Amino acid sequence: MDNKHLIIGLTASHKLAEKIAKKLNTRVAKATIKHFADGETIVTMDETVRAKHVYFVQATSKPVNENLMELLIAIDSARRASAKSITVICPYFGYARQDRKTNAREPITCKLASKLIERAGADRITIVDLHSEQAQGFFEVPADTVTASYQIMKEIIKDYGVKNTIVVSPDYGSVKRARKLSHRLGLPMAILDKRRPEPNKAEICSVLGEVRGKNCIIIDDMIDTGGTLLAACAILKKKGAKNIIAGATHGLFSNNGEARFNDAAKKKIFSRLYVSNSIDNVYDLKIKNLKIVDISDLLSKIVNVYVSDGKHTITELYAATKIRREK
Ligand code: R5P
Repeated sequence: MDNKHLIIGLTASHKLAEKIAKKLNTRVAKATIKHFADGETIVTMDETVRAKHVYFVQATSKPVNENLMELLIAIDSARRASAKSITVICPYFGYARQDRKTNAREPITCKLASKLIERAGADRITIVDLHSEQAQGFFEVPADTVTASYQIMKEIIKDYGVKNTIVVSPDYGSVKRARKLSHRLGLPMAILDKRRPEPNKAEICSVLGEVRGKNCIIIDDMIDTGGTLLAACAILKKKGAKNIIAGATHGLFSNNGEARFNDAAKKKIFSRLYVSNSIDNVYDLKIKNLKIVDISDLLSKIVNVYVSDGKHTITELYAATKIRREK
């Protein structure tokens, strides 16, 4: 990548930005992030961005407001310093779950966050596993959404194969993702009937499909508290599943989720847990049988598509990363 393109990792995604830059044979350009005594953030580019294409890598994960605001301020400073274009590489887009009003007088934060990023001056955004695909429509600038579920599935297949296996959707919202995976691998699919009696509490009432004696692969877009995936593993075990292999793109592990997963792993409630490095903090997790799936290759290839200025496309990149059942 030539010096007309600059990768800048912000606080939440330093490690991922380093990995992306390494894959692109370039360095991470530096920005200084400081805080005033009252908590205000100031982001300063440490080198010229004038007439350059800037790529900010930042997950808007915990602390969500801090990281989002830091991203907005970084975009503002690059815009005011005459960057030619600003692309946000957002490995995890926080606030995405509030994408519609389910009750009166509720906000739609997904739309609000997308508007803020755009108004700050971003020209384009890439998001990994955006909570709902239709939320792409909240952006007026080009929004490329990609999934890490194929990378996760590839790792699982490498470790477990596909014999005697069923793909399980953790809830109705995830059926589309599970169907794509099961279809590509020629595997059957089961669906879990999940309800939320209150926010952050998950109850799984029944399993649609036969899981007894089978290896169950269950991949969600995110683990927040872990309620969904742990409840899913528990019911699959109760129904006689052989191996339960769980995965998620985004590992937030809120409210002591790390300890609960570690406990569940020790009790053999699941065989292995696969989580992508969309959030840098996954490298600090101490969970037995956790495997981290690196998505820097996927993201570096996306940056390459942008750098190629029309010579390559996301469609062709995507076609190459998709999974197929080995003959
Ligand atoms: C729900 O729609 C999502 O896909 C996830 O299943 C959910 O956000 C995970 O949250 P938790 O880990 O707290 O159950």
